[in-house]
Amino acid sequence: MSGRIPREFIDDLLVRVDIVDLIDSHVPLKKTGNNFVARCPFHAEKTPSFSVNRKKQFFYCFGCGASGNAISFLMDFSHLDFVEAVEDLAGFAGVEVPRESIEYPSGQKKEDLNSLYALMEQVAAFYVEQLRTNDEGKKAVEYLKNRGIGGDCAGDFMLGYAPDEWQTLASRFNPQLLLETGLLVSKEGGQPYDRFRGRIMFPIRDKRARIVGFGGRVLDDSLPKYLNSPETPLFHKGKEVYGLYELLKKNTKPKRILVVEGYMDVITLTQFGIHYAVATLGTATSQAHLDMLFRFSSELVFCFDGDKAGREAAWRAIAAVFPSLKGGRQIRIMLLPQNHDPDSLMREEGPDRFNDSVEAAQFLSDYFFEHFSKDLKLSKMEGRSSLRNEAASYLEQLPIGAFREMMFEKLSSLAKQHILDNEAILAYKKQENKHRQKSGRPSLSRFVMALLVQNPKLIDIVEQKEIDWNYLEFDGIERFKNILQMITDIRPTNYGVLLEAYRSHSDELVVKKLASLDLLIPDDGIETEFCDALDRLITQAIKAKIEKLLDKEKAEGLDAQEKELLRKMLTAKLFSAK
Ligand code: UTP
Ligand code: MN
Repeated sequence: MSGRIPREFIDDLLVRVDIVDLIDSHVPLKKTGNNFVARCPFHAEKTPSFSVNRKKQFFYCFGCGASGNAISFLMDFSHLDFVEAVEDLAGFAGVEVPRESIEYPSGQKKEDLNSLYALMEQVAAFYVEQLRTNDEGKKAVEYLKNRGIGGDCAGDFMLGYAPDEWQTLASRFNPQLLLETGLLVSKEGGQPYDRFRGRIMFPIRDKRARIVGFGGRVLDDSLPKYLNSPETPLFHKGKEVYGLYELLKKNTKPKRILVVEGYMDVITLTQFGIHYAVATLGTATSQAHLDMLFRFSSELVFCFDGDKAGREAAWRAIAAVFPSLKGGRQIRIMLLPQNHDPDSLMREEGPDRFNDSVEAAQFLSDYFFEHFSKDLKLSKMEGRSSLRNEAASYLEQLPIGAFREMMFEKLSSLAKQHILDNEAILAYKKQENKHRQKSGRPSLSRFVMALLVQNPKLIDIVEQKEIDWNYLEFDGIERFKNILQMITDIRPTNYGVLLEAYRSHSDELVVKKLASLDLLIPDDGIETEFCDALDRLITQAIKAKIEKLLDKEKAEGLDAQEKELLRKMLTAKLFSAK
């Protein structure tokens, strides 16, 4: 982990690089009018609906809704994480990425991480050697053979053996580094000792091939069956999956990825020629896992035990995946027969039938609705209100888009069969309709917001007017004020830079929507149009506020402050809007 990349560098980079050149170098673009278009690289299509806008420094696909700035493009297109994308973009611009120096509490320097990675590599190699040469290691080979794992597969995963002794590593490697990687356990008042003893060792690599941790399995029935590396500067369980590097080495663009639970599941599947499995490391599937896996494949199949605990785990996983289900991403659920894990099922069925079972896995949407109709008694009141509340609240979490709409359609048709009283759905439809109307012909406030977001330099005009927003009243004013604040704070040169500030922000989606509205204004008309719309918005907002105050006066009277405000507003002295 090196220091943070300075924010200003990222913003400068987004100004320096032209998104049109960047995308054109990956997906050849054609110019049409103000935009550059291509067939969308993020979904299959015959006619181009992917468009890149030079002025906004923004891409948008009318087909699948993919959108973002240059960094987002690289993240999605080249399957990179944020830092990698910034590095790539800097490479495109021909500049170095600077790092803020960070203070390590232990006095540790960033170079030390490289020595930690190097140590992990050496220890893994040592464990491999022990598997071959150590007498007990031979028992481990025997064990693997009994489970049907051959030398090639063991080699691919760099399986090893940790001798059953307390001080094997400490006598061979730097104890301080061993402690930092969690390979040694320190003990108050005593000698630190080897964490992994008498175990088959599974090195865990991140997707950039670096060994970040280990898992170790006993050779018999003793407990604990598996030990894993603790959280260390290199290893974060909730972010890594086992087997991804090995999978990508065989296939960089897998059609689907099967998510299983165990180390041995991944290894057995691979041994039998199923090269598309990864394992979560004894933790629940996290958002970070999903975002990472979806970068490599658009379809994930989750394997769960068929028993009650398994179905509950499946349900928890579904709840976790909902927020990341955007266009083109597909999830399926594969429930295993009782008392089977993927490893044992594969042995019983063989690879062909196992593959068929994966192909037959249920789509998340079907699984979702089956869960609700099966476990809730829809003919009963409780069941109905549960469906209404629960199903709708899950679906609310879906990102706006085709999948969300489809799920609500389905809920609505399910509801028709079972529910008379489906207010939640009606409410949803109303909201969606309102939304649709708005996106067809935006309201004045939305129009002003969209113009501003798309042309952040217009903030100068807003500032010249010295408007006191606190006294105004219109739909969405809070959001408007937040956006103004953000633009005032960061003074973005273009929309691409603004969008960067909204990465992972709760308003990210809103801002993207505003940016994608086509306002049909020629470049040289933008300022005039904005000034005019802003003035109209303020006038409307003053009127609305006056009306509200007058209503209040009638109903309950006004306090002194409100009276003064009303007086000023009626004499139009408070605003300099021309
Ligand atoms: P399982 O107990 O299902 O193991 O745990 P498995 O993969 O089927 O193992 P085999 O087939 O007996 O060798 C699934 C995963 O849960 C984590 C490990 O990551 C394991 O692969 N686990 C399990 C632990 O971390 N510690 C344990 O003691 C057990
Ligand atoms: Mn197993």
